[in-house]
Amino acid sequence: LRIFNRKSISIGDGVSIWKRASLLAITHYNNQQFSPELIIWDNFCTGNDLFIAVTRKVTIGNDVLFADRVCIVDNIHWYTDVSIPVLYQDLASPRPIHIGSWSFVWINAVILPGVTIGKGAVIGASSVVVSDIPDYAVATGNPAKVIRQYDLDKKEWIKVL
Ligand SMILES: CC(C)(COP(=O)(O)OP(=O)(O)OC[C@H]1O[C@@H](n2cnc3c(N)ncnc32)[C@H](O)[C@@H]1OP(=O)(O)O)[C@@H](O)C(=O)NCCC(=O)NCCS
Repeated sequence: LRIFNRKSISIGDGVSIWKRASLLAITHYNNQQFSPELIIWDNFCTGNDLFIAVTRKVTIGNDVLFADRVCIVDNIHWYTDVSIPVLYQDLASPRPIHIGSWSFVWINAVILPGVTIGKGAVIGASSVVVSDIPDYAVATGNPAKVIRQYDLDKKEWIKVL
């Protein structure tokens, strides 16, 4: 487990994080300053090689399960100035990420800045999530699209075309 800036990271009860995780709360880059917050609520369970890099805010709700190699980043490097290597360009304004309680994120999924994943959502293997996913939805692919949605009135899963 590699933790960077532990004081910006809050971990609830009953949390299980398997091998080689990186939890990186980034406070500065170039001349930029950040006040990152990573909040993991209770009973979160993840497989190996979790990668989370936060410059603003990432929250993971209660009773969330991740398979191996899930990646969550709330920031990107600018690449707009072609006279400077991307490595030395500033980070874009970070956008917070929220992973809803009871959700399930399958192997190799990537969650990008600004995304909210709803309660009880399921993110398919190797999906790249670039936009919000509603409660009780299954989303897959790159970019991730909702393929199934639970209808709370009819009490059944509906296939989304
Ligand atoms: C997301 C998931 C749970 C959905 O399962 P499901 O509801 O049974 O969905 P289906 O298998 O019926 O697939 C429905 C459609 O989504 C597609 N699809 C399913 N999973 C996909 C994925 N991860 N990426 C892209 N498309 C996917 C299917 O090809 C199918 O497309 P079609 O309707 O055009 O034929 C499952 O596909 C998945 O990703 N499981 C992950 C398994 C895993 O990571 N195991 C390792 C754990 S450590």
